[in-house]
Amino acid sequence: MNVRYDFSDRVVIVTGAARGVGREIVHQFAAAGASVLATDRDRPGLEESCRDLPGHVKAVVGDVRDEDECTKIVRAATETFGRLDICVNNAAVAPHASLMDERVEVWDTVYAVNCRGTFLMTRAAARPMISQGHGGRIINFSSGVSSRGSAGAAAYASSRAATESFTRVAAIELAPYEILVNCVSPGLIDTQPKPLPPTMAQSLSARIPELPLARPGLAEEVAQLVLWLSSDGSSYVTGALYTVDGGSGVGSRPPGAVVDDDVRYDWVTGRSRV
Ligand SMILES: NC(=O)c1ccc[n+]([C@@H]2O[C@H](COP(=O)([O-])OP(=O)(O)OC[C@H]3O[C@@H](n4cnc5c(N)ncnc54)[C@H](O)[C@@H]3O)[C@@H](O)[C@H]2O)c1
Repeated sequence: MNVRYDFSDRVVIVTGAARGVGREIVHQFAAAGASVLATDRDRPGLEESCRDLPGHVKAVVGDVRDEDECTKIVRAATETFGRLDICVNNAAVAPHASLMDERVEVWDTVYAVNCRGTFLMTRAAARPMISQGHGGRIINFSSGVSSRGSAGAAAYASSRAATESFTRVAAIELAPYEILVNCVSPGLIDTQPKPLPPTMAQSLSARIPELPLARPGLAEEVAQLVLWLSSDGSSYVTGALYTVDGGSGVGSRPPGAVVDDDVRYDWVTGRSRV
């Protein structure tokens, strides 16, 4: 059951809106009455995301790697809806390769989308927020792999760690304008197109039972955190990193009952063995 919000007087940009978490964020903001500028480089996916939505939703195709495109996206929001209140920097790519096989151009693209795109959209969105003078919200994205080693994730994991660091700096620099900047860090979220490739299906079927909640998260559950961070309920929250990972960042599901068989501590536990 989703918490109900009223964003009927707010204008929101959502990047990476053509599928997955971004599509769900668009849907939840639209259902809460917001005016939404949904953007993505994938035109068919974007059109699918925006079909039959209530309220004001405008789709603009754009690539967040490009500064002029980011300016165009923000201008489309302010010209269409008259203002800008919230920018959700959800667009990302996550191709995986082992360190020794990583292609430099793929590495550069990961950084161009995940880091430069977040920077360019943050700066473009902050300009009208500053000149409007009534604050704003910027929500960036990271990932649980930013803080642990994960084979094949060198580019993606390090690029997501960079957005966490960027979020802290942006929060400090934009605080005087009442623009709150926070970062959402999902764990395993079920957004992959089905059927899954065989190797991925195999590794997920081993991993999922070990997650504390023993299931992947839903795009809806990530979107709910984004809406809270955009709401009046989070008015004293900035520079923060919020995990939405079912507890996977803090440990694994217990494999069974906890039994202390360690004889060294019988004198502590009071257990006697005969
Ligand atoms: N799904 C997960 O398990 C998971 C886990 C951790 C973090 N995340 C983060 O959550 C966010 C959403 O994840 P998702 O699984 O929905 O991603 P996704 O890959 O399903 O969707 C990403 C969207 O970004 C768009 N995009 C990519 N490059 C772009 C560009 N240059 N310009 C504009 N749009 C571009 C894609 O077209 C796509 O629509 C991402 O920031 C991701 O890093 C996801």
